[in-house]
Amino acid sequence: MTQAQRSALDRHWTRYGIEATDIVDLDRIFGRRAPRYLEIGFGMGDMLIHMALAHAEWDYLGIEVHDPGIGRLFGQLANLDLHNVRAVRGDANDVLARLLPDESLEGIFMFFPDPWPKKRHHKRRLVQPQFVSSASAKLRTNGLCHIVTDVEDYAKHMLNILEQENMLQNLAPTGGFSRRPPGRPTTKFERRGLDRGHSVWDLMFVRRESHLIK
Ligand SMILES: C[S@@+](CC[C@H](N)C(=O)[O-])C[C@H]1O[C@@H](n2cnc3c(N)ncnc32)[C@H](O)[C@@H]1O
Repeated sequence: MTQAQRSALDRHWTRYGIEATDIVDLDRIFGRRAPRYLEIGFGMGDMLIHMALAHAEWDYLGIEVHDPGIGRLFGQLANLDLHNVRAVRGDANDVLARLLPDESLEGIFMFFPDPWPKKRHHKRRLVQPQFVSSASAKLRTNGLCHIVTDVEDYAKHMLNILEQENMLQNLAPTGGFSRRPPGRPTTKFERRGLDRGHSVWDLMFVRRESHLIK
């Protein structure tokens, strides 16, 4: 962690950080009612900054376990004087299951979740059936779940799990992976993968209307 990241984390925690011990009241935290989007594992926060600048009328929440990334995000948010981003420091499994209200989000993004390439580590992968169920419950009807990876076997694993989640419906017209949506910026990990010649898979699902959920 650089000194600048440490100092930004300490200085701006009360403005941008959420100490989540109980269910979070998003209207109170953001001081308004607005469409809300969540990014899980935001890394250095580039996508959150990009999205928050593009849509001042929407709120953005990030979950991250890595302090240097949170510090970097806070430094950027303060420099830009952005009001529509907050970050929870913690494990997304825990935050999704216990702390976020159901049906509170218009979209959830996960860009390049850690792939844990070794077979014996696959159980550490974040995207598992229980995780997808918890995440889907946080979406409003028609809310978007957008996950991107450059690891083929993780992409297939995620597709299988998302397709089996009753609350979700695949946005790809013929099923399978979606085309990269125009305007989706390239993240730091995506650039790294592309430099190594990796392909990239977009998975885009929406939350079904409640009467269609069995
Ligand atoms: C490969 S990086 C991708 C970062 C960024 N999304 C990008 O595309 O550049 C994965 C990120 O997920 C975070 N992460 C891993 N497990 C997590 C968890 N259980 N809860 C929240 N964040 C997590 C890591 O700290 C890391 O920043």
